[in-house]
Amino acid sequence: MIERVGVIGCGLMGSGIAQISAAAGFDTVVREVDDDRLAHGLSSIARFLDKGVERGKLNEAERDAIVGRIRGTTALEDLSDVDVVIEAVVEDINVKKELFQALDEVLPVEVIRCSNTSSLSVTELAASSAHPQRFIGLHFFNPVPLMEVVEVIPALTTAPEITSRVVELAKLLGKTPVVASDRPGFIVNRLLVPFLLDAVRALEDGTGTKEDIDAGMKLGCGHPMGPFELLDFVGLDTTFYVANIMYDEFREPRFAPPPLLKRMVAAGRLGRKAGRGFYDYE
Ligand code: CAA
Ligand code: NAD
Repeated sequence: MIERVGVIGCGLMGSGIAQISAAAGFDTVVREVDDDRLAHGLSSIARFLDKGVERGKLNEAERDAIVGRIRGTTALEDLSDVDVVIEAVVEDINVKKELFQALDEVLPVEVIRCSNTSSLSVTELAASSAHPQRFIGLHFFNPVPLMEVVEVIPALTTAPEITSRVVELAKLLGKTPVVASDRPGFIVNRLLVPFLLDAVRALEDGTGTKEDIDAGMKLGCGHPMGPFELLDFVGLDTTFYVANIMYDEFREPRFAPPPLLKRMVAAGRLGRKAGRGFYDYE
């Protein structure tokens, strides 16, 4: 039975995952690399919950109970008594592999190890752990508290019992699980990422301004955000890493990151989280 959840990373995704875990009633420990990032992540959770109270989605007592179930830490050792761990650190295979190796030193064998990777091979990540049969992909969508779907991605090595337990966990977290095979981008990013990259190419070749392309897709196709708003929302760095990983695997031009995306990342224009991306949020 799952009672305690560990989340690693309290960035855009980790903070949302920690929030929904605590909202589902799990004692939740969230680990960041340093105190500043931890404080930033925990304050985004508080902000989201405060807005929820303002909108009448929950009351103050419920908000306080959720916050009370979240413990922040910078020490990996503080995850030693969790039943499941969900990793949500930067989309870099080496960082994730090192992390799962370090976790093997602190986690009991039976803990289920999940990665929120957007595009990396779950099987390759599983192989970096001493317990690849207990390893699985669990891919949430941004903003985690509002997006209803989650992808469950068994590695070649994942025990079927672990897949069933993680599907149940996803439901307890209030999500609709869909099971995807371990191919870069899984289901959603396989379709979404080429679309976002194509929007950047359309901007590069002068098809329209970013405002007109966004308005076209919102008003013409009913998308809640235009592609440039969504790129800023997801993070241009994350999109760039994901595109490179998908291109490396498939070798198809549609997955190759366009030059403008690369330059935006080089300039530090990473989107909303950096205060500036295609749009200015300062
Ligand atoms: N607490 C509780 N509920 C909240 C809330 C809060 N702080 N903020 C918003 N909500 C609720 C609202 O009350 C509303 O619910 P109701 O309809 O029941 O009233 C709902 O959320 C929508 O809120 P808003 O109307 O304020 O916001 P919106 O209509 O502008 O929608 C959005 C915001 C849901 C983010 C929408 O713009 C959207 O769906 N955008 C696209 C997001 C997307 O595509 N995400 C996937 C990215 S790809 C990814 O994640 C994968 C990857 O690997 C990169
Ligand atoms: P983010 O930039 O908001 O946060 C990155 C996190 O990685 C932070 O917690 C940071 O402290 C940590 N980190 C960075 N370098 C590290 C290192 N060397 N060692 C340990 N931790 C390190 O990114 P995010 O958007 O939260 O993405 C996190 C993961 O979630 C990625 O795998 C990403 O692909 C995936 N994801 C992102 C989205 C999205 O829309 N942004 C959606 C689904 C999945």
